[in-house]
Amino acid sequence: MIIAIDGPAASGKGTLAKRLAAHFGLPHLDTGMLYRGVARQMLDEGARLDDVDAAAGFALSFEPGLIDDERLRGREMGEAASVVAAHPPVRAALLALQRAFAEQPGGAVLDGRDIGTVICPGADIKLFVTATPEVRARRRALELAGRGEPVDEAAILLDIRQRDARDSQRDAAPLVKADDAVVIDTSALDVAGVVASALAIIEGKRHRIISSFQ
Ligand code: CDP
Ligand code: CDP
Repeated sequence: MIIAIDGPAASGKGTLAKRLAAHFGLPHLDTGMLYRGVARQMLDEGARLDDVDAAAGFALSFEPGLIDDERLRGREMGEAASVVAAHPPVRAALLALQRAFAEQPGGAVLDGRDIGTVICPGADIKLFVTATPEVRARRRALELAGRGEPVDEAAILLDIRQRDARDSQRDAAPLVKADDAVVIDTSALDVAGVVASALAIIEGKRHRIISSFQ
């Protein structure tokens, strides 16, 4: 079973992906970490994020082993990742790795922006997780406060709006709901509520598939 989860920043897609992976005993890939990893390498090497050729080179030689790094999770790296992710050769370079992860025996859970549309168009389950920008900014602010980092919620909201615009308006694999994805609006739900909605959607879909064979 391949579960594809897409959605904007801080919508809760990563948390849901982890919970579903644990529930079904499937491996999970947070694909945003790949773009964050490429952006981080570029910044470390003093490359410009808008240099498409340089970005393509970093993406081609990208080592997924680098992705367990707390520095990648910060606000600044999310912004940098979204610049790098708009370059088509970067997306092309990271495609095979993501497909191979999705197609391992038994299945997988992947979350990102283009999983249901580009990486796994044939996924068994496609979820599009969303929430209002204000709710998402609040969640990010709480996360930062929890890590003891300074919080400027207005600046976080601005970042979120800018990133939504950049991710949805780019030409290469923009953030868009797949036609056959089910939307979960998490604005008024806690994590348990989101997981319960997702499990109900998955069970409903499995039931329909089984019924169609009877
Ligand atoms: O966790 P959050 O949603 O803030 O960010 P992320 O999922 O780590 O993604 C960081 C950036 O990488 C996004 O703003 C996208 O521009 C890009 N990305 C993408 O283009 N395609 C994906 N499948 C995943 C991330
Ligand atoms: O992966 P993405 O950027 O979409 O979001 P996340 O990192 O999964 O979630 C951002 C924050 O919102 C985390 O601290 C979650 O605990 C929290 N949260 C959530 O994920 N879902 C809710 N329904 C409520 C809060």
